[in-house]
Amino acid sequence: MPGVNRRIEISPSVLPADFARLGEECVNLQAAGADRIHWDVMDGVFVPNLTIGPDIVKSVRPLLDIHFEAHLMVVNADEMARLYVDAGCETVMVHAEACVHLHRSLANIRTLGARSGVVLNPHTPASTVRHVLDQTDHILVMTVNPGFGGQKYIRLLDKIAELKAMVDDGGFDIDIEIDGGISAETIGECAAAGANVFVSGSALFRYEDRAAGVTELRSIAEAARS
Ligand code: DX5
Ligand code: ZN
Repeated sequence: MPGVNRRIEISPSVLPADFARLGEECVNLQAAGADRIHWDVMDGVFVPNLTIGPDIVKSVRPLLDIHFEAHLMVVNADEMARLYVDAGCETVMVHAEACVHLHRSLANIRTLGARSGVVLNPHTPASTVRHVLDQTDHILVMTVNPGFGGQKYIRLLDKIAELKAMVDDGGFDIDIEIDGGISAETIGECAAAGANVFVSGSALFRYEDRAAGVTELRSIAEAARS
């Protein structure tokens, strides 16, 4: 529902996971109360790193019930989108910086049957999405430069607030997610600025007790909005 407080969701990035036990790690994240799994897909061209192919996502899909979201850090986002929908991702997010025809790329993801997401790098202005909000279900705001986990958080509260105002003023039903350096120290201000979904990789994996980590992050975000 536009305008009202949207549900706070915690979406662990599995980049820090032990890839020798990836399925087990994801099952543990679901058991810890994670709302989603955030798959960081990198092609070594759009970003200087290479990570998770669709077959890996496909192999983990039957082990969990929670929402899978694919963050495509790839140059051929239109071609890759189908592969990750077919692998079981309910949301597929493409970088505005990688899409020459962003409006069509987002419409294509919806045609494939998934929720469409647009990702903005730290330097990319909120206005970039102004004319594609009618094709968008999800906005991902990067608070690090993409390519790696464990980087230093970049504060972009004005951008988050600007996006929230655009979404609410237009009456759009769109989640705003923050990705990069999200921890107990940073999640609150992002929630207060208007975000409701939060990726956490290195910070969440630092908790011995993952459930305690998910609970702490969620409660800080909820408290920051009240
Ligand atoms: C970076 C990825 C992020 C990153 C988050 O390119 O898109 O999802 O893995 O990791 P942390 O939470 O450690 O910044
Ligand atoms: Zn990501």
